Amino acid sequence: MNYQQAYEKLEKYGQLQVLKYFEELTEEQKNELITQIAETDLDVVAACAHKETLNVKGKITPLASMQLDEINVKKEEFNSKGIEAIKAGKVGAVLLAGGMGTRLGSDAPKGVYNIGVTRDLYIFECLINNLMDVVKLTDTWIHLFVMTSDKNNDATIQFFKEHNYFGYKEEYVTFFKQEMAPASDYQGKIYLEEKWKMSTSPNGNGGWFVSMKRCGALDIVHKAGIEWLNVFAVDNVLQKIADPVFVGATLESGCAVGAKVVKKNAPDEKVGVVCLEDGKPSIVEYYELTDELMNAKDAAGNPAYYFGVILNYLFRVTDLEEILERELPLHIVEKKIPYLNEDGELVKPEEPNGYKYEALVLDLIKELNTCLPYEVERNKEFAPIKNKTGIDSVESARALLMENGVIL
Ligand code: UTP
Repeated sequence: MNYQQAYEKLEKYGQLQVLKYFEELTEEQKNELITQIAETDLDVVAACAHKETLNVKGKITPLASMQLDEINVKKEEFNSKGIEAIKAGKVGAVLLAGGMGTRLGSDAPKGVYNIGVTRDLYIFECLINNLMDVVKLTDTWIHLFVMTSDKNNDATIQFFKEHNYFGYKEEYVTFFKQEMAPASDYQGKIYLEEKWKMSTSPNGNGGWFVSMKRCGALDIVHKAGIEWLNVFAVDNVLQKIADPVFVGATLESGCAVGAKVVKKNAPDEKVGVVCLEDGKPSIVEYYELTDELMNAKDAAGNPAYYFGVILNYLFRVTDLEEILERELPLHIVEKKIPYLNEDGELVKPEEPNGYKYEALVLDLIKELNTCLPYEVERNKEFAPIKNKTGIDSVESARALLMENGVIL
């Protein structure tokens, strides 16, 4: 792409402000910007103009979850089936660590956050420890794929190296990068983060499987004979990974995906809830849940939409491959976006100042035809770290870790 073509592309999308400093750039910087313009999908930002039409939901009805009492009855059976699959090398794990973790307020990758009190204990370390429990139990190394983004890839890899992978076997860890998307102000105008660079942010956690294919990680999956991928978020320090009972239950269900869920602690808790949408398993985000759905009751008098997802899913690889080409809905999310102000100085805002454009892993569920919502005890498996203090914070996660016997 040359300057003229870059200009025309930006003009078409009303984004000429991106060239504001072009005349003062070095040749190298000019080339960098033109390459970025060529490679960036500007359609996503254009969606800002019609965002109300983006995620129109179908007819929502309840979907029953497999609950703790039923799981307890079949625990042994599920456990041995899960262990068998893990020992056969059929289960891999995918850590979604490409997010910016802006709510935590650190520029470093979220996983390097030290949640220890009397000793160092990093978020990544907690997750590796949890996975190690299953490695020891099954005497089998589980391949761990770690998704990063342009913003945190180098820092993440360096951190794992510095800490010797927290005892995990290096050859079973593969890093891969997700895609980026432009970030804009509320009018959909793309910000600059350098005079020669549009502001970008990771494009959401929904594209993880497509990125695995693009980066060659899927070849490793095939070569290793991995049939199931346990996808999990970086921020839940209490979660079980490659949990044999969950693996066994999902396999036995015959479903394409298992989703760990917890009973919500309040009708308006900020977690997506499992449901049927137009008769197919789906997840409604908390901000899409109407009052009517929030207060609906089932036949037993319990909330009809009682179970929230904790971002821990077990996907069957062959089913993901079938839906690889499908486009996921776009979510426009309000966030804090570093930008160049009128004077060309970099500002890191304290409050949200625009939109990021993301695809979400929960939208994959609707694309698959079958899903097993699988209940876990929230006090034993759900300690998300989103904020520094308050709800879903370093503080609340520390309390839960201690309650579960983890020495901080
Ligand atoms: P969050 O929804 O908490 O998003 O991610 P975030 O961007 O990291 O955090 P805030 O909102 O800025 O504070 C849930 C999980 O999905 C991963 C995160 O790393 C986390 O494990 N994620 C999120 C990605 O891997 N890529 C993304 O583009 C976004």
